[in-house]
Amino acid sequence: MGTRTSATLRAAVAMRGSQNFLGAAWVEAVVDHAPARYRRDVALGLLALSPHYFHGPDRHQEAARNRRTRERLAAELVGAYVVDGDVVLDYGCGPGYLAAAVAARTRGDVWALDISAGVLACARVLNGTPNLRYRTPAEFAGSGATVDVAYSVAVAQHLTDAILRKVLSDLFAALRPGGRLVLHVVVDAPGWRDEQEWRHAAASSLLGWLRWRYGLNCFGRTGAQVIDLLAEAGFVDATLRPVRDLCDVDDDVAGQHVAIARRPELPGRRSGLPAQGSWVPAAPLHDQLSGEGPLSAGDGDPRRHRAGQPNSSSK
Ligand SMILES: C[S@@+](CC[C@H](N)C(=O)[O-])C[C@H]1O[C@@H](n2cnc3c(N)ncnc32)[C@H](O)[C@@H]1O
Repeated sequence: MGTRTSATLRAAVAMRGSQNFLGAAWVEAVVDHAPARYRRDVALGLLALSPHYFHGPDRHQEAARNRRTRERLAAELVGAYVVDGDVVLDYGCGPGYLAAAVAARTRGDVWALDISAGVLACARVLNGTPNLRYRTPAEFAGSGATVDVAYSVAVAQHLTDAILRKVLSDLFAALRPGGRLVLHVVVDAPGWRDEQEWRHAAASSLLGWLRWRYGLNCFGRTGAQVIDLLAEAGFVDATLRPVRDLCDVDDDVAGQHVAIARRPELPGRRSGLPAQGSWVPAAPLHDQLSGEGPLSAGDGDPRRHRAGQPNSSSK
């Protein structure tokens, strides 16, 4: 495919804007109406059109990379907090490689949510398993379900503060009291523009506005901002740790952070609290890795081992 055709197609599939790639109504219809024997290829071809999912030209290689890295994240990162029987929520599941790998670790339901109906259609084709329920956030909210663990990988950095606040509030509501949040975040990343800088660029030029509206937005934040957003949503015991300390994965995520937090058991601790939590800054990551161990989550949950170590009861 020529570069210009490829760029036009990418723009066309991103027409919904606001980080909703493959969200155009026709995408879901194309997947659903493709002849069964071509459906997987159609789904892979569509994923290859979006900057969110596949990064190289070889869609089969990219699918294999996604499966391999997401299986590793499921085993070493999310799996450290999931025990068999847990009901789990994946926020911003994309094509479902991670959700499917997590679903293999529990007999409970895994709710896999995404804003894009098109990517959910692809996920059902590529990564459908009996205990996986692919839904939009609005559909999940209508279900009234609650979950033991909620996680989100490679999503928060694409959300504005306002949307992230809403998402954290929704995840808090979805978790049972005492339930755990595992949130991958990018903090203190050199060269990443913050939301204000993105907004300024959008107001300054047409190209900046097009990038803001239709491009893949990546917002830089500080660790302190993330901890504050979690506290504001009602989470407690928040810690921020380098992913690399928990998981050895060949993916950008490895050089970034994960926030672990908990919905409190008791009501009444929700608002007006100072941000309580701790975090390990990104800059001296190599020092942390070569030196003493990182912060422990110190969560006191008897079901869990020290944060980052897979539960012995998980498969
Ligand atoms: C980079 S992909 C990550 C997919 C998957 N979590 C993974 O790690 O393989 C980000 C996903 O977040 C979804 N997303 C973006 N904004 C969202 C929102 N406000 N609500 C739900 N999903 C959203 C996108 O549609 C996309 O599928």
